[in-house]
Amino acid sequence: MRKKIVAGNWKMNKLADEAVALTSELVNMANDEVKGDVKVILCPPAIYLTTLKKYIEESPNFALAAQNCSDKVSGAFTGEISAAMLQSIGIEYVLVGHSERRQYFNESNELLAAKVNIALEYGISPIFCCGESLDQRQNEDYIGFVKNQITESLFHLSAEQLLSVVIAYEPIWAIGTGLTASAEQAQEMHAALRAHIATKYGTETAEEISILYGGSVTAASADELFASPDIDGGLVGGASLKSREFTNIIKAR
Ligand code: G3H
Repeated sequence: MRKKIVAGNWKMNKLADEAVALTSELVNMANDEVKGDVKVILCPPAIYLTTLKKYIEESPNFALAAQNCSDKVSGAFTGEISAAMLQSIGIEYVLVGHSERRQYFNESNELLAAKVNIALEYGISPIFCCGESLDQRQNEDYIGFVKNQITESLFHLSAEQLLSVVIAYEPIWAIGTGLTASAEQAQEMHAALRAHIATKYGTETAEEISILYGGSVTAASADELFASPDIDGGLVGGASLKSREFTNIIKAR
């Protein structure tokens, strides 16, 4: 059975008191309302990770992720946060290769492979983001493009290492635009990525890895998306900033 995961990427939002309030509300609502097995991963700005850890302590289905980490072990890299530092405060996941990092910070597939490696080395599971732009979807082999992101950043891993990775397919044209991919569009890509993984690692491994969908997920769209056979949950941006909406998405898992 693949893990069902709903992750909330807060991006660069929320002040300290708001971050605490949102986390407490989510934990309380999830305790009262969420039945069944689902991992909820909150990805707040890194500055809040230590504080928020205390608020999820009693809820084993909650975990925290950093939104990024350095590809370097340590040293003179001002402003960076290392995987070792995340490990030292008990963080279990890290987003790697979000399209905003690829776009604004020029993160290449090669750099992301290094980030994946270092996260795994320190026992942190990468949530590896991939996805095509609108132009690529309309004019190119968009499935081939996303497969290649996976090949170049993940296919050097052993099968055991790969199973510590969560994949998040996020079509760039759907991020923050209100244009959710249809369940058919998302399922098409998820099935293709799973088949791609099977060519390298075999069907058993491919069937075990969780592939999340991200891009304008709301409580209204989550049910249909998450019901698709190859969609194992979501990576939610805007809608993860509101406790009621995000709890309803978690319930749709
Ligand atoms: O990481 C989350 C994605 O970028 C999706 O963001 O739900 O606001 O479209 P969004």
